[in-house]
Amino acid sequence: MSKEDDIVSTEEKTVRLLDDNLKRMDGRKLDELGDIRIEAGALGRADGSCYLEWRGNKVYAAVYGPREVHPRHLQDPTRGILRCRYNMAAFSVGDRKRPGPDRRSVELSKVMGEAIGSVVFTRQFPRTSVDVFVEVVQADAGTRCAGLTAASVALADAGIPMRGLIASCAAGKIEGHIALDLRNEEDNFGDADLPVAIMPRTDEILLLQMDGHLTEEEFFQALDMAMKACHEIEQIEKQALLKKYKEALGGEE
Ligand code: CDP
Repeated sequence: MSKEDDIVSTEEKTVRLLDDNLKRMDGRKLDELGDIRIEAGALGRADGSCYLEWRGNKVYAAVYGPREVHPRHLQDPTRGILRCRYNMAAFSVGDRKRPGPDRRSVELSKVMGEAIGSVVFTRQFPRTSVDVFVEVVQADAGTRCAGLTAASVALADAGIPMRGLIASCAAGKIEGHIALDLRNEEDNFGDADLPVAIMPRTDEILLLQMDGHLTEEEFFQALDMAMKACHEIEQIEKQALLKKYKEALGGEE
């Protein structure tokens, strides 16, 4: 490590992420999930949609399809194709982000699309495409997890046949402790972040990435914490979908 790196890391350590009782700066316990609010069917023009607020994250997901693929040579006669685009608005972060795709958004679109593609029954709609758009309008770390969770609700809202819902949450390490659902400051000044997406119905892992360093024991502790949270999140997703369809049928909430 160079002398310059040393100075940077000393400065980083001055940011406190935990108080003396191991409470986080937003008042949460180490294993406590941030507040999540999900609205199914938030957008009128999409076939299925969702608006999700999760701590400081605000995310829209819109699903179009199954619809005819253009250009036609991209059609697959054996299955439908699943396309996902993740985008972060220029005004979604503290420092203005340059609009348009960048390396990060291309990566996130790819890993999110792969996670979604593994639960959708694409063989049921050959020659067509299902397009999933995830728009982050306010970011506070964990936007890929928020985006995947919103996309799952939007897909279900669109009636796309799936093996199960997707739920996603990250766990990480701050000041030497494993913690659930890091916010931006914890992500920036913490030691590691482990975003996870699963299909809670079977506990199948659909996305698993890691930034930073964890021992094997810490890794499994973080994975277990994130997967438990995914089961909680799936319940919130189901409630949002039930609320929309009960309202549509004229029933009570
Ligand atoms: O959002 P997620 O944790 O899935 O991805 P990340 O690449 O680990 O980004 C973590 C956070 O850094 C984002 O949620 C934003 O709050 C912030 N960020 C930013 O401020 N400016 C960017 N150009 C990209 C990310």
